[in-house]
Amino acid sequence: MQRNHVTVALTGAAGNIGYAMLPRLASGEVFGPDTTVELRLLEITPALGALEGVAMEMNDCAFPLLTKMVLTDDVEEAFDGINWGLFVGAKPRGKGMLRGDLILGNGPIFTGQGKALNKAADDVRVIVVGNPANTNALIAMSNSDVPNDRFAALTRLDQNRAMSQLAAKAGVAVSEVTNVAIFGNHSKTMYPDAENALIGGKPVYDVIDDHDWLRGDFISTVQGRGKAVIDARGKSSAMSAASAALDHVMSVERPTPAGQHFAAAVLSDGSYGISEGIIYSFPVTSDDNGNLEIVQGLTISDFGREKMKATEAELLEEKQVVSDAGLL
Ligand code: NAD
Ligand code: LMR
Repeated sequence: MQRNHVTVALTGAAGNIGYAMLPRLASGEVFGPDTTVELRLLEITPALGALEGVAMEMNDCAFPLLTKMVLTDDVEEAFDGINWGLFVGAKPRGKGMLRGDLILGNGPIFTGQGKALNKAADDVRVIVVGNPANTNALIAMSNSDVPNDRFAALTRLDQNRAMSQLAAKAGVAVSEVTNVAIFGNHSKTMYPDAENALIGGKPVYDVIDDHDWLRGDFISTVQGRGKAVIDARGKSSAMSAASAALDHVMSVERPTPAGQHFAAAVLSDGSYGISEGIIYSFPVTSDDNGNLEIVQGLTISDFGREKMKATEAELLEEKQVVSDAGLL
């Protein structure tokens, strides 16, 4: 998508992920070297002081493409006329917690933000990063008049993690790995699918002989990577999450290379027999206008089908919880 100017709202802009995203958003890397960028930085009131400091640093980077920054705790001001909403602002989990434990704490954030999106530009796209990301995206979508197909939740980090694991196991560069699908929830039930993935254009199962690893440790490592980072770092992933969120934006903004796909959690339309009405990660492509389409026709084994149904069941449960809480 070629444009001269883009207006981007980043929620939670003074947080860890925000700090890692901001310089890259303004550098020209994401929207191209000819597109100027206005940033709307949304924070809760107590974090506005810290946000000022982040903005000072952004100014001190002297990015030629950055035309304006608006620092605010007013969601309507933040979302007025935006082309992209990067919904990061939410509490992260701590050690010993599941992402789903955040649901009733973070979920309400996305009702008001969904409503405020009605002030966005007609072409607005949203990526939800704050956890539990799939169900938070469902809440934002349900509370907004913006068309449903503009909302996605981030599973690109899981795709990137899976690509990195496969590349290391095969002893190849990560650029050799394509077509890794992530099915379902950004949680420990997600299903990273190696059965349709390629290494150097060949099926992963032909390149990696250790099929027990592909069906075992590969999957559990990707499913548990967020927890492993928290256990090691004491804080949840931020640099890799920011990078994946920007990968998502770039993949939506540009047409997907023929024959390839990327992972994003979008509203299920019943593809692959998954229930409609939940935000479920599928392999998707983008056209030249940022429209996402779920890739059809991947071969799913009985093994894969079982895993896809397990993560679907978890998302249906999460939907019930937020529905009972009146958030939809
Ligand atoms: P953080 O605590 O460092 O930053 C979050 C920021 O959001 C804080 O500055 C906070 O003040 C702000 N915030 C809270 N409520 C807000 C609201 N209503 N409006 C605007 N801002 C608000 O956390 P972080 O490490 O940046 O992580 C943010 C979220 O992203 C967490 O929920 C985390 O679990 C999630 N996450 C998701 C993925 C993914 O792949 N989907 C990966 C990593 C982290
Ligand atoms: C991740 O996958 O790193 C994030 O969702 C943070 C977390 O809580 O694991």
